[in-house]
Amino acid sequence: MSKAEFIYLTQEDVIAAGGLNMEKCMEAVEEALACHARGDMVLPSKTVVRWGDPETEATKGRINAMPSYLGGKVNKVGIKWIGSSPLNPKRHNLPRASGILILNDPETKLPLAIMDSTIISAMRTGATGGVGMKYLARKESRIMGMIGAGVQARTQAMAAKIAFPHLEKILIFDILPDRSNSWCQEMSLKLNTPCSPARSAEEAVRESDFFVTVTTAHAPIVKADWIKSGHTFVHMAGYEDEVAVVKKADKIVLDSWTEVHHRGLQTVYLAYEQGLISEKDIYAEIGEIIIGKKKGRENNKEFIYYNTVGMGIEDVAFGSFILEEAQKKGIGISLPLWKNPIWV
Ligand SMILES: NC(=O)c1ccc[n+]([C@@H]2O[C@H](COP(=O)([O-])OP(=O)(O)OC[C@H]3O[C@@H](n4cnc5c(N)ncnc54)[C@H](O)[C@@H]3O)[C@@H](O)[C@H]2O)c1
Repeated sequence: MSKAEFIYLTQEDVIAAGGLNMEKCMEAVEEALACHARGDMVLPSKTVVRWGDPETEATKGRINAMPSYLGGKVNKVGIKWIGSSPLNPKRHNLPRASGILILNDPETKLPLAIMDSTIISAMRTGATGGVGMKYLARKESRIMGMIGAGVQARTQAMAAKIAFPHLEKILIFDILPDRSNSWCQEMSLKLNTPCSPARSAEEAVRESDFFVTVTTAHAPIVKADWIKSGHTFVHMAGYEDEVAVVKKADKIVLDSWTEVHHRGLQTVYLAYEQGLISEKDIYAEIGEIIIGKKKGRENNKEFIYYNTVGMGIEDVAFGSFILEEAQKKGIGISLPLWKNPIWV
């Protein structure tokens, strides 16, 4: 008798198992990024299903398949299958993103868990931004600027509070003022930090010590003129700044050049494609800074440009933490794959 079972976790189960614990998520993601720098992972590039050229993602959406193996303490293999439909919030009162994560045993390859990954994905994205803030922003940073007041903006702000517990203010701009107003009401209370709507994207950038863009925009918002000495730009989505911003950077740091290149949408890639920068202008991948192979911020004057495209190993890292916690706490339901396989 060789029965096979996996654990099924709903979004509520994921949360009960620690899905909103940003401190733990940042630890898990930092470890995953370190494994990336050491080569202790297997990361096929993401496969994007979309209904036309990249521009159609804004209206018709996409679904990404993101398989990976993460070594180190985690030692799990998995895949995130995540849909994005930017019109969901307005049309259907549903989140833009929705996903499922499957985790497998690296030895038998059998599934260990299937879980909602909507929260896991948002949290690991916040954590990836947060790890960048921790290593790249000026230590005395007090004001965070944000552009885009959606789901990911919430986790970016949660991560900023871990990286900078003494954050004094978050200034946020969204093209839809209602979104930034309600975001500020919710997040001021949750983070115990004053959050105010900015009058413009320019104000959010100029007033900040470090700033994040996390929008669904497909045209540049941030202008090179707005950048000041010592700024850190955490660029989490696609094409949100003019290429001159990239050109102005003293250091360009990515999660993965291979993945940014493969996706082909980020401003850094566009600057490369237009011949404004070459591969040698990419200073580091964040994992190399985490493991001490390269230095992070070296003075208070550098303008550091940090861009992430997202990697499946980050989902496997935090999903594995959730699975472990769920098992400890008896959360979720066990489902059979089979009672006895008919063919071996
Ligand atoms: N780097 C990563 O690993 C990663 C992971 C997940 C999501 N993302 C990206 O993050 C982005 C945001 O995702 P989300 O789930 O928060 O979406 P969301 O729909 O919840 O929020 C997006 C917000 O951006 C605002 N916006 C759109 N255009 C704007 C503009 N020109 N100026 C100001 N605000 C504007 C919208 O009004 C909305 O409030 C998406 O583009 C997504 O692809 C990146």
